[in-house]
Amino acid sequence: MRIGVLCSGGDAPGMNPCLRSIIRTACILDVEVYGIRRGYEGLLNEEFYPGENGTHVMGLRSVSGLSKVGGTILRSSRSQRFTEPSGLNHAAKVLHKYGFDALIAVGGNGTQKGALALSTVWDGQVIGIPATIDNDLYGTDFTIGFATAVDTAVEAVDKLRDTAGSHELMFFVEVMGRHCGDIALSTAIASGAEIAFIPEAEESSERIVGKLKKIKEAGKTSVIAIVAEGDEHGGAFAVQQLLKEAGNPFESRAVVLGHVLRGGSPVAADRILASELGNFAVSAIIQGESGKMVGTIKHELTLTPIEECVSRHRTVDTEQLRLLQIVAS
Ligand code: F6P
Repeated sequence: MRIGVLCSGGDAPGMNPCLRSIIRTACILDVEVYGIRRGYEGLLNEEFYPGENGTHVMGLRSVSGLSKVGGTILRSSRSQRFTEPSGLNHAAKVLHKYGFDALIAVGGNGTQKGALALSTVWDGQVIGIPATIDNDLYGTDFTIGFATAVDTAVEAVDKLRDTAGSHELMFFVEVMGRHCGDIALSTAIASGAEIAFIPEAEESSERIVGKLKKIKEAGKTSVIAIVAEGDEHGGAFAVQQLLKEAGNPFESRAVVLGHVLRGGSPVAADRILASELGNFAVSAIIQGESGKMVGTIKHELTLTPIEECVSRHRTVDTEQLRLLQIVAS
């Protein structure tokens, strides 16, 4: 049996330990794995990661030391060509040409949509692995990379808190999350931020300014607000301006953490999740599964139809919103 594996879309810390787990599981089961470079674009261009003994087959030593390495050694991309019918059909031809029986697609929403589209034109097995810092995929409680991104954001906010305290400032800290406020909410709870702006919860600027005035009256001299990039008001700079116009009593600064959150060595939780999902993906293929995304729900390994994962939206945990309001009071 021959499996192809690719990483696509935004990279996420944990993609490498996931690849390591896939290869090591496959080696034990005598399954060949080809690493496809640069996502779906690389598949169209027939780009493979150098394997062992001059072949494309990755072996045990191809993935040595990868558990602590950020990014993805396979490299990633967002492919426009692949979204067009001609590109999709070409990808199916390439998969036939190299004798693939199955494909594992590691990535976020766009990657899973690509995997689903591919399964309509190719008769091989397709399994998705959720990896994106945004944690916005239905079908898993956590995506690979989320825990590390939150850790990185919290570390940055801890540093900003020092300057906020010294200069009696309010900081608007923007974190990634195009359609989902999970990074913002978790960062806010863990860093002790006073406010989170997320796409899932609308709040009027007047109400927030009222809250800030109360915070100031209560004697607080500095404030941290975490802003999800997908918040309906816009990013950190837009929210800063909006609140300034509405009478924010604090002098403020805005900081965008952006792609910093996608980098760095994965934290233990991501390494473990990546190892579990990589191993489970190969087992699922051996058991004949296809068109499903692996995940973990309430600590159980799960398989959910990719169609469901991309058509349904993962909702933010309202309990966490309530928790933030309590711990930030
Ligand atoms: O990986 C997901 C994500 O981090 C989004 O939150 C963000 O909007 C996007 O990637 C930006 O990535 P790029 O600059 O690679 O398009």
